[in-house]
Amino acid sequence: MPGTKKAVFLDRDGTIMQDAGYLSNPDQVVFFDDTITVLKQLQNEYELFVVTNQSGISKGLITASDAERINRHIDKFLKDNGIKINEWYVCPHKTCECKKPKPYFLHKAEKDYDIDLSGSWVIGDHPHDITFADNGGAKGLYVLTGHGARHLDELPHEVPVFHNLTDAAERILGRRLDGTAHHKANFCSIDQAALLLQRGGVVAFPTETVYGLGADVFQPEAIAKIFELKGRPLFNPLIAHISDPDMLERLTEDVSRTAARLMDAFWPGPLTLVFRKDENVPDIVTGGNQTVAVRMPSHPMAMELISKADSPIAAPSANAFGKTSPTTAAHVIEQLGTDGYSLIDGGASRVGVESTVLSLVHNRPLLLRAGGLSVEAIEKITGPVEYAKEPQLANLESPGMLASHYSPHTPFILKSGEPEDNPDSRTGLLLFTDCGIESSGPVEILSHRANTAEAAINLYAAMRRLDRLNLEKIIAYRLPEEGLGKAVNDRITKASTK
Ligand code: TXA
Ligand code: MG
Repeated sequence: MPGTKKAVFLDRDGTIMQDAGYLSNPDQVVFFDDTITVLKQLQNEYELFVVTNQSGISKGLITASDAERINRHIDKFLKDNGIKINEWYVCPHKTCECKKPKPYFLHKAEKDYDIDLSGSWVIGDHPHDITFADNGGAKGLYVLTGHGARHLDELPHEVPVFHNLTDAAERILGRRLDGTAHHKANFCSIDQAALLLQRGGVVAFPTETVYGLGADVFQPEAIAKIFELKGRPLFNPLIAHISDPDMLERLTEDVSRTAARLMDAFWPGPLTLVFRKDENVPDIVTGGNQTVAVRMPSHPMAMELISKADSPIAAPSANAFGKTSPTTAAHVIEQLGTDGYSLIDGGASRVGVESTVLSLVHNRPLLLRAGGLSVEAIEKITGPVEYAKEPQLANLESPGMLASHYSPHTPFILKSGEPEDNPDSRTGLLLFTDCGIESSGPVEILSHRANTAEAAINLYAAMRRLDRLNLEKIIAYRLPEEGLGKAVNDRITKASTK
């Protein structure tokens, strides 16, 4: 008999608190900033449980009583803050029947607490948390905190991801935790969205880089609505998104061998290629250029949408012109409001910065915008690429090169070199990684393990969190110029206040 109550099963390390390896002492527990707020709201509607594998015990790295002491400490802290965890489900074994992803504890809760698993959720930062949910008939939500970003490659493409606990809770509760109007947005299914696109509507949809605001390439009036919604100058050309290499034939006949090799290697994925365009591609898509930018996104919802709409979809990032790009559905609503378009919620974008734009209409490949695919990876196929110079506005090759772009509201200052201590509580810091400095103001760390791809995933969400705090200024430090460091540096340079 299925139960009657709904529950949220929380992983411990990396989900409600930092994952600092095998903990042996309560002093090592560091909660995330949003843990208390989120759990308070969740428990109004859901029974809460913690389910944690503590394999350090069987490995002899910590003792069972260490683990127990730490869990009691966490439980007390939560209780003192008005949060009730119904039960702590701890697996101390290496191999056994109760270790996640085996659904033992889900079934135990179902029996002992009258839980309806089909209406319940699991939140965790490891792919096995999602398998655990699937195995027990609950719904899994994957967070990018803890080890989440590191294990992304092992997570099936169709599983949506969330920046943090707040993001995941908003999905569960169907509203923003800060009370802003979320429910008024026109959320829709992929099938509905595909129909809307065919009828000349505008749809915001998730891609692996950032959310796009899309319309059918071959319906100029629909495309015009995108420019209106974004407040974007008409000379800015858009990227046409396709779901299948065959769709490219509707846009260009100019596919060189280099292009074919790049497509083979990197599509679907965060690489946009610029080709000479076919006559029938409307000027409004290409900004009057004789070229067209095309990419095949790898997000499964984007692919399904384009394929069902059965036409290339032109889409810029779904933000107001010149502002920070959205990596969640909630960011889209923050930027564009709720009117004039429909929205598909696909969780957080897994790459986090826009695609790399490479023009193939010159003798040598020309890099127009650093992005989610590293230049090193491209050069392995093409040999050395040329870098476009900062353009004059008049002969803009690629407006993504516009100097002011991706801007937060707060004055944003870019620095190079080693970060310095910050004595000012009204100054926020945006850092690549932990570097042991002291700060009186808020700090966002883009990657605790100093990984440039992880930094890219977190960049825009971290900029937004700092921007919301009404600080006097934000100081950002440049990343190393390797991997996706180039793309992140490009964005924070453009965000910086001149
Ligand atoms: O990751 C992305 O590329 C995201 C997602 C939604 O796919 N889209 C995106 O679009 O960032 P948007 O419009 O914000 O940036 C498109 C970039 C701009 O730098 C634009 O100038 C360049 O692509 N672009 C588009 N068409 C072009 C063309 N025909 N020639 C040169 N550059 C072009
Ligand atoms: Mg974990």
